[in-house]
Amino acid sequence: MEFEQFRHFIFSEAGIDMPPSKRALIQSRLAVRLRELELNSFSAYWQKLQHPSGAAERQKAINLLSTNETYFFREPDHFTWLQQHVIELSKHGNRHIKIWSAACSTGEEAYTIAIVLAEALGINGNWQLFASDINTRVTAFAKRGVYPLERAKKTPPHLWQKYFLRGRDEYSGQVRMVPQLIKRINFFNLNLLQSDAYQQSGFDIIFLRNVLIYFNEETKLKVLGNLCPKIINGGHLLISHAETIRNKELPLFMDGPSRYCVNQPFNPHR
Ligand SMILES: C[S@@+](CC[C@H](N)C(=O)[O-])C[C@H]1O[C@@H](n2cnc3c(N)ncnc32)[C@H](O)[C@@H]1O
Repeated sequence: MEFEQFRHFIFSEAGIDMPPSKRALIQSRLAVRLRELELNSFSAYWQKLQHPSGAAERQKAINLLSTNETYFFREPDHFTWLQQHVIELSKHGNRHIKIWSAACSTGEEAYTIAIVLAEALGINGNWQLFASDINTRVTAFAKRGVYPLERAKKTPPHLWQKYFLRGRDEYSGQVRMVPQLIKRINFFNLNLLQSDAYQQSGFDIIFLRNVLIYFNEETKLKVLGNLCPKIINGGHLLISHAETIRNKELPLFMDGPSRYCVNQPFNPHR
């Protein structure tokens, strides 16, 4: 198998740094696509990916090679903080609050944020929520707002009735988010390596959780260098408890566990 080529492919396309120990994982994920295409070798698949007309296939390969594990109320401390923080912010003249879940996977993180905002500020409150991922399959899934019950089990019980509709018959074992919440989230596709070209800015908070872990130090710096200028001065960046930001040049100051405050204008050309 052209392991090194596929490894280089996912690194150059998405920044995902798969160590040699992930060889079997890459192989098993791509094998699914080989079967669908009835190709009998990885080199035939590699040829297909390389073809100038292979953009759609390259996206499919990215979808297969990215890891999308997520669930509702993951790392709940962040959401306890979020609730208190947005209530504080809204005291200053009910100002507009803008949040971005920047590697949202299938959407559970974004819906969790939306539930917290709806609780704190009202479902039709003065807030805006953006959610993006490089993977086109997961954002399409997120837009439907339908989940296996299992993924929602960390949701505090008093929120169930308000925000989840229990599926019946062929939907039993699944939940659907209430439509008023679905329509409050703007899901789209974005590669974090190219987020400098994304026009939105002025975010109060960016959630960037459980994605830095796939990047090397250089890629982390590039991605964070793109994102910091999009956060307002005094705004926040949340990463996962399993992740670290080592770089000292970024205008990020830790003000809680895996929570950073942006407090100086960042010039990436400095
Ligand atoms: C493990 S999930 C994290 C989901 C959620 N943030 C959480 O913490 O539960 C990581 C996500 O990062 C996305 N991802 C990986 N590389 C990316 C890139 N270069 N640009 C945007 N998203 C990326 C993957 O597609 C995947 O959905």
